[in-house]
Amino acid sequence: MPLKQPRTGKLISFEGSEGSGKSTQIARLAAHFQKTHRDVVTTREPGGTEIGEQIRNIIVHNSKGDEMCAETELLLFTAARAQLVREVIAPALLRGAIVLSDRFLDSSTVYQGIGRNLAADPIAQINRFAVGDVMPDLTIVIDVPEEVSLARLKTRASDLPDRMERENVDFYKKVREGYLVLAKGMPERFIVVDGTKSEDAIEKKIWAEVEARVK
Ligand code: TMP
Repeated sequence: MPLKQPRTGKLISFEGSEGSGKSTQIARLAAHFQKTHRDVVTTREPGGTEIGEQIRNIIVHNSKGDEMCAETELLLFTAARAQLVREVIAPALLRGAIVLSDRFLDSSTVYQGIGRNLAADPIAQINRFAVGDVMPDLTIVIDVPEEVSLARLKTRASDLPDRMERENVDFYKKVREGYLVLAKGMPERFIVVDGTKSEDAIEKKIWAEVEARVK
């Protein structure tokens, strides 16, 4: 699928560390758009396609998970992204939909680059190769302190923590700071919202920003 076609849809990505409340806010934002009768597609990374969900499984649940090197991790995340862009996101944007993605390329920049200390340039190149010209129109970072991330993770109902969730507080601190640095460098694309506020307050803030920025 050629990616360089005029698109009338908008891509909004949500970023933040684990337990930041992205999925709740994505559902709430989708509901706002649905009220205005917009075609809304929600998706998530890694995953969102059958191939992507299989890749997600390799990354987060495989029994040799802790032996996976950071380079492999990066290539798997970006492989899932390439599939998602071509199979789901680009076609939706071409037909004019609003696409809400739970994570997109900034997750690799932050988790593999800053969290795992991989060099920024190759990550940027690999990311670009994976997404083509499909860049987010807006990226919403839900910012929570690392202690809050970890505490929320522990209260999740799921059984055992997966390999990403087993990371320690320093890792989540780096992830949080990574997002804030990225957002500061690209204020035209990013907004940062305080994830410690109530769900209703966060929803209101996000909708106000989206209405102002996404025509
Ligand atoms: P989530 O479904 O809770 O957001 O978990 C996905 C995990 O994968 C989370 O720990 C972030 C991580 N991740 C990366 O490290 N790099 C990436 O490019 C993506 C998309 C996710």
